[in-house]
Amino acid sequence: MKKIAIFASGFGSNFQALIEAIEKDKLHAAIVLLVSDKEGCYAIERAAQNNIDTFVFNAKNYPNKEAYEMAIATILKQKQVDLIVLAGYMRIIGKVLLDQFEGKIINIHPSLLPAFPGLHAIEQAYQYGVKIFGITIHYVEEDMDTGKIIAQDCFKISENEDIDTIEAQIHQLEHHLYPKVVEMLLKK
Ligand code: GRF
Repeated sequence: MKKIAIFASGFGSNFQALIEAIEKDKLHAAIVLLVSDKEGCYAIERAAQNNIDTFVFNAKNYPNKEAYEMAIATILKQKQVDLIVLAGYMRIIGKVLLDQFEGKIINIHPSLLPAFPGLHAIEQAYQYGVKIFGITIHYVEEDMDTGKIIAQDCFKISENEDIDTIEAQIHQLEHHLYPKVVEMLLKK
């Protein structure tokens, strides 16, 4: 059985979608670790509910990014993780993890990259007036939201669609596509 680690800083709905895909036998993997930099975030609660081990850290307790990434890398190696799945992890992955897990870190972003990288992507796209919204799953490289695209999906919005409805549709697409892509990558 392939082993994956999820990195999340927030609500963790994509984490939940991966848990459920495993339960429904659509994703053949074991989530062996949740890594989070945000004590008290709901993703950690989800890990507890599902008996998933966690590594929760406060970046301020480490001298620098290298130091906390070394700590994370040690646990990932111990747990023999095959794939790192970023799901709303709000930190840029640094050299330590990129070097040790080359080609094994993926991210999901709520826009059709390379359009609207960075924070508040849905809001950025909405303000810009885009008519086709979408999501991107990509390999993680040193810069934010770059890296080879693995999969995308999109939908057209109707006249005067409000942002909350669009956001809900984006999340639905994410929850559908992320488990599929993880399964596809693990089968390779
Ligand atoms: C998702 O929209 C994802 O695309 C972005 O962060 C959000 C995380 O949502 N990277 P959740 O924590 O999985 O609910």
